[in-house]
Amino acid sequence: MKSSKTRCLGILTAGGDSPGLNAVVRSITKVAMGEYGMRVLGIQDGFRGLVENRILTLDDATVSGVLTRGGTILGTSRDKPHSMPMGGRLMDMTDAAVDNARKHQIDCLVCLGGGGTAKNAYRLWQKSGLNVMTLPKTIDNDVFGTDVSFGFDTAVSIATEAIDRLHTTATSHHRLIVCEVMGHRAGWLALHAGIAGGADVILLPELPYDLERIAEFLLERRRHGKRFSIIAVAEGALSRREAEAAAAAKARDKGQDKDKERRKTTRDLDRPEKGEVPPDAATEGEAVDAYRADLPLNVSRLHDETMAYHVVQEPMASRLARHLQALTGVEARVTSLGHVQRGGVPTAFDRTLSTMMGAMAAELLSEGRANVMVAYRNGLCVPVPLEEVVGKRKLVPAEHHLVHCARQVGTSFGD
Ligand code: F6P
Repeated sequence: MKSSKTRCLGILTAGGDSPGLNAVVRSITKVAMGEYGMRVLGIQDGFRGLVENRILTLDDATVSGVLTRGGTILGTSRDKPHSMPMGGRLMDMTDAAVDNARKHQIDCLVCLGGGGTAKNAYRLWQKSGLNVMTLPKTIDNDVFGTDVSFGFDTAVSIATEAIDRLHTTATSHHRLIVCEVMGHRAGWLALHAGIAGGADVILLPELPYDLERIAEFLLERRRHGKRFSIIAVAEGALSRREAEAAAAAKARDKGQDKDKERRKTTRDLDRPEKGEVPPDAATEGEAVDAYRADLPLNVSRLHDETMAYHVVQEPMASRLARHLQALTGVEARVTSLGHVQRGGVPTAFDRTLSTMMGAMAAELLSEGRANVMVAYRNGLCVPVPLEEVVGKRKLVPAEHHLVHCARQVGTSFGD
């Protein structure tokens, strides 16, 4: 057995489930236990399980047979330690989370999640001194500082296969088919699946579209004898008008936040009771902002004070299809892939990436390294300090080589 500076680690999975999570849990457990003799604990349902002390021991038997399993054997949640719905109120549960980690003698909390999870882990470390490590998981591929996140490749494959299948109906019925893919506010998934599936139009959040231009492009295709078209649209895609309105709203929000900050320092707004996040103070403004940024796009939350419920909304692709049908006179249909993209077995690439990342995490822990994200760069796993990645989002640059390449093969971005 090799020596290790870390004796016990806790693993949690937070945010949306993603293919590859179990492969990482398996890999960390096998390497940390088998090579370094560390104790490995699994925390259920993300940060909530830590707060509620739902923690179990992981060993060879628990992680056996999970390499190919989708979802997460630990369960997940979108809860944040510093602002968690508890009995109808939002509470700062950092102390409870840290107490439980200490009780179990956890030297480092390994958090598998996306940008939001990294932010929450970083905050926990900053507030309490509890060591953390993050591994980038998301089908959106928007985690900053890593070339790719695990789960993305699987989602791209699923979305691509869906677009392949949609071609059958589109060509047979000479229709427009609008296929909505996930990705939150990033267009990576739509870009990759759109190119791989040969979509005729790809719409990304980063490149606001013009409806008339898309309609003209589709009609031009028809004039050239192509009577069907596939439009791959990212759930966060915006028209030019919407993008302008969003930018104006953001600027307004920023102004209001500054104003709130000023009022807080000059008039000293009501202080929160211990452990409670106040409904109107700047601290909550920050929480609400972060929450807004993390909000899934196909849902909006009820203004319940726990902010725990979602109202399901119509896929944005339906609206787009309606408009395009009206503008072109061509029959349109909609497919919204939704959570199908996160389901099922991970691809070979995601299994390999997850195994590499998990093994690297265990090695870093054995050296006593913490407060880093395990990133994948140029084919290798490397540690990156958390402060370099937290609070940033990796978006598709307008001049990205894949955007250029798609344009070269005749794909329209509607811009
Ligand atoms: O972040 C992953 C993701 O699947 C996004 O692509 C999507 O916007 C969101 O999660 C959906 O969240 P939920 O599972 O809460 O509906």
